[in-house]
Amino acid sequence: MRLLPDIVSYEERLKSFDWSLAVTELGYVKEDIINIGWYCSDRICLKGNADKIALYYESFGGTEKSFTFNDVRLTSNTIGNFLINLGLKNEDRICLFMDRIPELYFSFLGILKIGAIVQPLFSAFGDESLYIRLENAQTRAIITQRKHLPKVRKISHKLPFLEYVIVVDPVKGKSLEKNEVAFILHETPSVEDFKIFPTRAESPSVLHYTSGTTGQPKGVEHVHYSLISQYLTAKWVLDLHDNDIYWCTADPGWVTGTSYGIIGPWSLGITQCVLDAGFSAQAWYKFIEKYKVSVWYTAPTAIRSLMKAGKEVVESFDLSSLRHLSSVGEPLNSEAVVWSGKVFGKQFHDTFWQTETGSIMISNYIGMKIKPGSMGKPFPGIVGVVLDPKTFEPVPEPGKVGLIAFKPGWPAMMRGYWNNHEKYREKFVNGWYLTGDKASIDNEGYFWFIGRDDDVINTAGHLVSPFEVESALLEHPAVAESAVVAKPDEINMEVVKAFVTLKPGIIPDKELELDIMNFIRRKLSPMAMPQEIEYMDKLPKTRSGKIMRRVLRAKEWGEEIGDVSTLEDD
Ligand code: WT7
Repeated sequence: MRLLPDIVSYEERLKSFDWSLAVTELGYVKEDIINIGWYCSDRICLKGNADKIALYYESFGGTEKSFTFNDVRLTSNTIGNFLINLGLKNEDRICLFMDRIPELYFSFLGILKIGAIVQPLFSAFGDESLYIRLENAQTRAIITQRKHLPKVRKISHKLPFLEYVIVVDPVKGKSLEKNEVAFILHETPSVEDFKIFPTRAESPSVLHYTSGTTGQPKGVEHVHYSLISQYLTAKWVLDLHDNDIYWCTADPGWVTGTSYGIIGPWSLGITQCVLDAGFSAQAWYKFIEKYKVSVWYTAPTAIRSLMKAGKEVVESFDLSSLRHLSSVGEPLNSEAVVWSGKVFGKQFHDTFWQTETGSIMISNYIGMKIKPGSMGKPFPGIVGVVLDPKTFEPVPEPGKVGLIAFKPGWPAMMRGYWNNHEKYREKFVNGWYLTGDKASIDNEGYFWFIGRDDDVINTAGHLVSPFEVESALLEHPAVAESAVVAKPDEINMEVVKAFVTLKPGIIPDKELELDIMNFIRRKLSPMAMPQEIEYMDKLPKTRSGKIMRRVLRAKEWGEEIGDVSTLEDD
């Protein structure tokens, strides 16, 4: 097998790049079987790395576990076998609704091994968020933990397609409800030989839900061939080498946690670490020190929180193992890049991509000069431009703002939105895929992020749909109308703010505000919970009755309100 040299400059790579480089290196033969589950476990074992550590896991309570690539192979076989025995099959949607416990990672591969479609969802989701996504995907089974069962039980009777609720940690002797089945991994005999479903390049693999401005969240369809992009970008952008200890801080409920928290690193046979705990600067540095993390992929909100915790905290740990730092998900401000250079001796490399793109599109490529505040340049093989918003033609002048767009055709590109061809089609104009983001490109080809081209709120890297929060607010007994916008925030960049009018006779007070906030947190998620609620007598509306979020948003950001000629008269 021909191995690709690692250190080749961006310019050199551009000259000779072809996706077939990865295809060849992975030994994939066109039209043949390609299964991500196999590539991330069996193949690594066959290459002689069966005993290499694949996963160091640490729980919230401090429990430590480690697993080799052979363990990953066997556990994913065992889970796959269990799913088959239940009667689940290729192309069934199977949801993962778990904290970041080892079973989550092994089940991800097990589901892929049977040719079924993995639907990863954040365990922090409330029952409404969960229901909307399971209903849309007509999910057949869900794998979850005991602690999340109450949320599942609240909605499972409304989900006729949901046949199995698989519980990985049931209490012995305590009965499960009728559609619930127990599956305890360490008590189940390992399956040595498992017949992997012969998925092909275009067979569906992962279904991630993402939020837009209007309508319900959309299921982004990925295929097994996405591996080609994920493998190569993990290798060249995250700069993963055989001896690295890699830490991706993202939850697999988010595409970063699957593309680069499972598929990229494991298909390269890299050891990775998982810390299933919330954020704390001390805990994070301790984790890096303990596992000697060398490559770290995290998000701007976390970096800003580390900045806030201060340099002294950094200095009380030995972080000399760190070699390469990358970031994704929201704008990485130049201060954060400069700060990381000072305190870690390494600067964060910003990367830009989306659930839809499946893999990194724009990055500060290894060895490239970093311009703090810029997202870098398109990955080799990716044609990225900014388009004039009126003509949808590429903007020729450097520095002029336009819509970020890519020429379709890279392996990890989404293949559709689940059951929503209309919305999928709207993403393409003049042969370009529209990201929905705005940027400018400087005279050296570096992309500078400006903002989104829609009302979607990006809070701490999580996209929240104002529509979803507004709809949920209307279900609160006190709320008559609502409008939801982003509000600036020092750490999270943006947070959710809700403007509400109340039903007649209801007195607005602090207690009600907290009650409404908690209502949204429980129903949707902590990310979607408004950080502030402002009571209004009436909301700004167009004469046709449409709420003008734009007016409310401008007020929060101290921006010009713009054209209000359609605003309803007083
Ligand atoms: C949206 C996509 C890619 C995995 C995580 C997010 C924003 C992403 C950056 C960046 C500024 C960024 C964009 C994009 N975004 N990376 N480096 N700088 N903004 O996936 O949840 O689909 O969100 O996140 O607005 O469209 P996602």
